[in-house]
Amino acid sequence: MTEALLLTGAKQLVTMAGPAPRRGRALREIGAVADGAVLVDEGKIAAAGPRAKVERQAAAKRARKMDLGGRVVTPGLVDAHTHLVFAASRAAEYEQRIAGATYEQIAKAGGGILSSVRALRAASDDALEAGARARLARMAAHGTTTAEAKTGYGLDFDNELRTLKVLQRLGRERTVEIVPTLLAAHVVPPEFRGEKSGADDYVDRIVRLILPAVALERLAEYCDVFVERGAFTVAQGRRIMAAARALGLKPRLHAEQLGHLGGAKLAVEVEAASVDHLDFVNAGDIRALARSEVACILLPGCSFHLGLARYAPARKLIEAGAIVALATDCNPGTSPTVSLPMAMSIACTQMRMTPGEALAACTINAAYSLGRQGRIGSLEPGKDADLAVWDAEDYREIPYYFGVNHCGMTIKRGAIIWQVGK
Ligand code: NIG
Ligand code: FE
Repeated sequence: MTEALLLTGAKQLVTMAGPAPRRGRALREIGAVADGAVLVDEGKIAAAGPRAKVERQAAAKRARKMDLGGRVVTPGLVDAHTHLVFAASRAAEYEQRIAGATYEQIAKAGGGILSSVRALRAASDDALEAGARARLARMAAHGTTTAEAKTGYGLDFDNELRTLKVLQRLGRERTVEIVPTLLAAHVVPPEFRGEKSGADDYVDRIVRLILPAVALERLAEYCDVFVERGAFTVAQGRRIMAAARALGLKPRLHAEQLGHLGGAKLAVEVEAASVDHLDFVNAGDIRALARSEVACILLPGCSFHLGLARYAPARKLIEAGAIVALATDCNPGTSPTVSLPMAMSIACTQMRMTPGEALAACTINAAYSLGRQGRIGSLEPGKDADLAVWDAEDYREIPYYFGVNHCGMTIKRGAIIWQVGK
């Protein structure tokens, strides 16, 4: 039995306690407590709230004490959309875009996602694992305790499964918790280009070969499709989602990122766990999403990094009552960052989310989008002891200070997985 741990000296404790998911005004209910404390026992939260009350409970357990010296404590952050496993940066494309080329132009010329596919296929297992491990460590350093992670740079049987096995091994290291997603339908791979039926043949391969193998080996929880011009159509997405569902994988979707194709409506139709990006949603989509249980994961790092003026209509989605979450979309093409605090900064400044909404969006609502709202995303008795400690006096400083990391300590299931200076 491990010793109980009492964390005191939380000048501000944000518990996020309350029902999940949060919609509308409820997204602002963050459960902030002044002078808070958290009691951790056996990797779980035993108590979280005002110091005096938590201390009384701690006395019975003879807990070890740690004084945080007046910092902010929040639930560990949940990054519900990442492309964690990739082999190389695309910094040269970044410079091309700055010079005026668009993301789509670079993709059409064989760069973009396909350049990451070439790099991943050429990389060894060890190299892929080391790169992803380093990114996970950086995520932990920015307060993340759970990260969804997609495939999508393999685009063939061997390399998609290889990516999932890298994730499986990293998941066993018990640092940041990993939620694996198959994104074999990221773009049509080079082997299937050129012929008219190429994309449908590849979809066939996903449905008949890749999905069944992934399900059999239980390598992924979710299945994602990039529904976009230059990637997959709504009909192809629908077919993959149905096949995934039949095999026990739950749907997520990339939709309405660079244009409007109908992916948001498809997500509602197939009762997806999440629909992500949504920069181009229209009023009808917003109404449908607001009435649904689908989490809308906004990824403002993409517009920021691609230098686009358009951001997802976060205010309209929130005010309509949709379930809004935030994630980094960590990937080498559109959002090369591991930092949820940075995603929060952009969400606040560019999409006018309040700091409280942004924090709820990447804790409790992100946890909901991963089906884990009963275990993570808030500091409530019985939940996993996943916490982030911030060198700040007020939670609003988390997005307010941008570009500099203010996370001082990250705890996963009661164990310190990152600490500043250590
Ligand atoms: O989420 N939208 C598609 N996929 C990624 C981009 C991946 C890449 O460019 O490598 C995204 O933005
Ligand atoms: Fe993505």
